[in-house]
Amino acid sequence: MKFDKIRAVEWRDDHLQLIDQRILPSRHENLCFDNVYEVAKAITDMVVRGAPAIGIAAAYGVVLAARNRFRQDGSDWQKTILKDLETLKAARPTAVNLAWAVDRLATIAAGMDPSTDPEPALLDAAKQIHADDIAANHTMGRLGAGLIAPGSAVLTHCNTGALATGGYGTALGVIRAGYASGAIKEVYADETRPWLQGARLTAWELVQEKIPVTLIADGAAAFLMKQGKVQWVIVGSDRIAANGDVANKIGTYSAAVAARHHGVKFMVVAPTSTIDMATATGTDIPIETREQEELLVCGDKRVAPEGAGAWNPVFDITPAELVDAIVTERGVVEHPTVEKMAGMMAK
Ligand code: MRU
Repeated sequence: MKFDKIRAVEWRDDHLQLIDQRILPSRHENLCFDNVYEVAKAITDMVVRGAPAIGIAAAYGVVLAARNRFRQDGSDWQKTILKDLETLKAARPTAVNLAWAVDRLATIAAGMDPSTDPEPALLDAAKQIHADDIAANHTMGRLGAGLIAPGSAVLTHCNTGALATGGYGTALGVIRAGYASGAIKEVYADETRPWLQGARLTAWELVQEKIPVTLIADGAAAFLMKQGKVQWVIVGSDRIAANGDVANKIGTYSAAVAARHHGVKFMVVAPTSTIDMATATGTDIPIETREQEELLVCGDKRVAPEGAGAWNPVFDITPAELVDAIVTERGVVEHPTVEKMAGMMAK
């Protein structure tokens, strides 16, 4: 498939392999995992990031936990693994795909014969989650690109590509599909302070695929829109509440407010594994706050004076009323409401 070469998460030679996203684009290195606690730490430390990719890595983490528990504890493994699963689920709080994937494998594990090796069946389930995510991204790419008039320019935020998913990407999947079809001719990417997912990862992916990309500072987005340079803002999500409120990388809300002010359309692209119908509204979504150092230090260099503090929420909530379209693999919800979201999820 065109524009679909990169895989951040892979099951290889009985191990989980992750591209270390902390050091891209200066170095492209893979890390191997055979222990669930190391997988949980890799998720917390952002070796792997992006809601669907976190969920898939966690699913393979459950496979590793089951393997090790079965070897150590024999037929007690279904009890002793519970602590491992709790640690995995706590690795990052906002992306619901993490709990969704762990719970899905935990349900399968709970129904198994305790004396049988759990690895083959759990590995099949993890591989299925991975394959389903890639397939969903291709479907969403087609659906989302279909909403965009030929020759449009778009702005995206954070990294929502192959690195953030099983492959291809959510918002970046729409951008890949739209570029291939001619709907999209130009891509602007917010650098995405403080972790620079846009500058380091989105730009890397698009350069790998030879799709032209122009970076902007996050603060330049409203001025870009004012100048009529983009027709759509296209983003992913870490969790969408039952009413269509969207949690995504900090800065998404500002982009949505600016888009509405300037008459620019705002599209959210996310698989149904990101939709949390048990969470009523965006205010109920837990927002991760990370270390102050991520803001006070840039690379190896401290940029703020000693004594300055920092507030570092890494996600924000965009209210449903600012969203023109939510694109999922089950269809497009325009101007989301509780009823429309429930209808789409029931398909
Ligand atoms: O902190 P990160 O890099 O894990 O945040 C990622 C995002 O906010 C993405 O936009 C979101 O997970 C959707 S990725 C398909």
